[in-house]
Amino acid sequence: MEHYDAIMLGAGAAGLMCAAVAGQRGKRVLLIDHADRPGKKILISGGGRCNFTNIHTSHERYLSANRHFAKSALARYTARDFIDLVDRCGIAWHEKTLGQLFCDGSAGQIVDMLLAECAKGDVELALGNAPRDVDHADGRFSVSFGQRRANAPALVLATGGPSIPKMGATGFAYDLARQFGLKIVEPRPALVPLTLGGGDVLFRALSGVAAPVEAACGKAAFREAALFTHRGLSGPAILQISSYWRPGETVAIDFLPDRAPDWLIEAKRARPRVTVRKLLAEALPARLADSLVERLETERLGLDGELANIPDRKLAAAAQRLARWTFVPNGSEGFAKAEVTAGGIATAGLSSQTMAARAVPGLYAIGEAVDVTGWLGGYNFQWAWASGAAAGEAIGAA
Ligand code: FDA
Repeated sequence: MEHYDAIMLGAGAAGLMCAAVAGQRGKRVLLIDHADRPGKKILISGGGRCNFTNIHTSHERYLSANRHFAKSALARYTARDFIDLVDRCGIAWHEKTLGQLFCDGSAGQIVDMLLAECAKGDVELALGNAPRDVDHADGRFSVSFGQRRANAPALVLATGGPSIPKMGATGFAYDLARQFGLKIVEPRPALVPLTLGGGDVLFRALSGVAAPVEAACGKAAFREAALFTHRGLSGPAILQISSYWRPGETVAIDFLPDRAPDWLIEAKRARPRVTVRKLLAEALPARLADSLVERLETERLGLDGELANIPDRKLAAAAQRLARWTFVPNGSEGFAKAEVTAGGIATAGLSSQTMAARAVPGLYAIGEAVDVTGWLGGYNFQWAWASGAAAGEAIGAA
């Protein structure tokens, strides 16, 4: 049996950060991962450039059964703190859009940086063996991996969520959390493309077309690009709204979010000889404009011909329809394609200051395994860094 101050399961974004922070505080840390290399999701993130944080980070940009849970950790380890670390390591970065920061080079730089931080803290990394037989007795947690067995007074669950299982993602953190009596908020795929069926399959013909829209579901609304796919809808606006969507709920798309409600009537006054089709084709990709006009026509809105010959009430109805195109997705592309998992280890059983389980001294849960899910755009990594740092600071503290 080998003895450590902390055993951490999962060498992903949160586990690497937590290990580095605890190690640099002088704690003897063992970081175990079943994968043959650490930080695999970091490596493929942000199209290979890792959208490592967002300068607009706020707890309001996270979903959780307790919307306030993330506040404390995010306030104590901020986007600025991570940017400072990136700067100290000489990694060049840029802001792409909406406060999203990416490496100029590659996501591998972020993994190398975290591994260097772990090395500064003498963290021992054990890769390629699944942890098993996790026990808790006499105030110590013991874990087997490969031929070895180790124990420590602190155990950190950092194995993430089950999204993208083909990359080695598992629900292991949930199994262990349940073993220790913690509750799980039902996990569901988030930041995931939505699929369409029934009458909405018309849009399949638009596969590959993208347009800036506002997508809404309930009170949530996102103004970003939507992308039509052969199975349904994707693109940032849809991925964002998918995190809020529950099966059976309606999603509404505003195809022209910058237009006033009476824009078609105003256009009739200014350009009476143009057609609705032409007007839409000026504002939207041509294939999408055609499809929408076809659909409006099948709904007997009677938009044929020049605007001058179409009654105002029909133009108003068409504008309203284009501003609120509703459909009920028949599903999502599931965990296989979900960028993150919403739900997870219930925050009610955890301290928001330290990520420690209230009922099991020495047990911590961090990162995506916890019921805190960020918007698209660097928010999920910022949660991994912040929750990892919170636990890393707390482990073994007097
Ligand atoms: P993470 O998944 O990083 O790490 C978990 C670790 O546990 C992995 O190393 C895994 O091998 C290990 N593990 C799992 N099961 C295990 C088991 N049974 N035993 C032992 N080890 C086990 N976010 C963002 O903010 N910006 C971005 O650009 C992107 N881009 C992006 C692209 C793609 C394609 C995906 C799938 C995801 C993103 N994300 C993202 C989300 C981001 O990757 C995610 O939120 C964080 O990696 C979560 O960090 P964790 O450390 O919690 O889990």
